[in-house]
Amino acid sequence: MTQTIAIIGASGNMGSALAKSLSKGDYRLLLCANNLDKVQAVADEIKRDNPAANVEALDCTVDASWEADIIIAAVPYAAEKEVAERIRQVANQKIVISIANLVNESFDGAVTAPNTSAAEELQRLLPNSKVIKAFNTTFAADFATPVIDGKQVDAFVAGQDEEALQTVSELVRVAGFNPIVAGDLSVSRTLEHMQILLMQLTLKYNYNWLAGWKILHQ
Ligand SMILES: NC(=O)c1ccc[n+]([C@@H]2O[C@H](COP(=O)([O-])OP(=O)(O)OC[C@H]3O[C@@H](n4cnc5c(N)ncnc54)[C@H](OP(=O)(O)O)[C@@H]3O)[C@@H](O)[C@H]2O)c1
Repeated sequence: MTQTIAIIGASGNMGSALAKSLSKGDYRLLLCANNLDKVQAVADEIKRDNPAANVEALDCTVDASWEADIIIAAVPYAAEKEVAERIRQVANQKIVISIANLVNESFDGAVTAPNTSAAEELQRLLPNSKVIKAFNTTFAADFATPVIDGKQVDAFVAGQDEEALQTVSELVRVAGFNPIVAGDLSVSRTLEHMQILLMQLTLKYNYNWLAGWKILHQ
């Protein structure tokens, strides 16, 4: 059965990249953000490139989440509390994907305490949802080029619910990345700090925001 995915923040760098990638899969996509014109432009662009894409722009985060099987919170961490409060009831028992990184303005640390993460904070705000960490270690530009230097970029997935982890791993695969289930939701602390490091290295070595993680193994 076709799953419905609501992308909140679908006009942003990550939200639009996710929408474009996932529109290639067998999903119905509902795109929302604050500004309907901006999400409509993303939906129009996807339809132009792929007329068969099942994608729709909506001006209401609550309606989109109500219809969705899976909700992606592609908003800045600062907006997550407000978004969580709006979707709490309609996200009951649903998968909610946290992609946020808690990097501070100078890119040299996190804005949260060391004993938590954006994903765990979102789970606290949505106690009846299945929060899964994913896509935080992939830059927006990687979605157009998920194979870099001949290697498929890894994308880490973390959470408590086994079925939800498998569902999100499939989403990661459809987006073009190699999914790796990294552990329970507390692993998000490491995953979010990994991305702070990658941002610092990107700036230092001028990777042009096209970089990713790859575990080499036998
Ligand atoms: N950029 C990356 O490469 C990257 C990589 C990994 C993870 N992330 C994470 O992804 C998230 C989004 O980053 P981004 O770079 O895509 O940010 P962005 O380009 O600024 O996009 C933010 C999106 O969130 C929407 N938004 C903001 N407040 C909202 C609210 N209260 N309700 C509904 N929608 C709201 C914005 O819509 P309007 O424009 O209509 O306000 C916009 O669509 C962040 O948590 C970031 O840490 C980013």
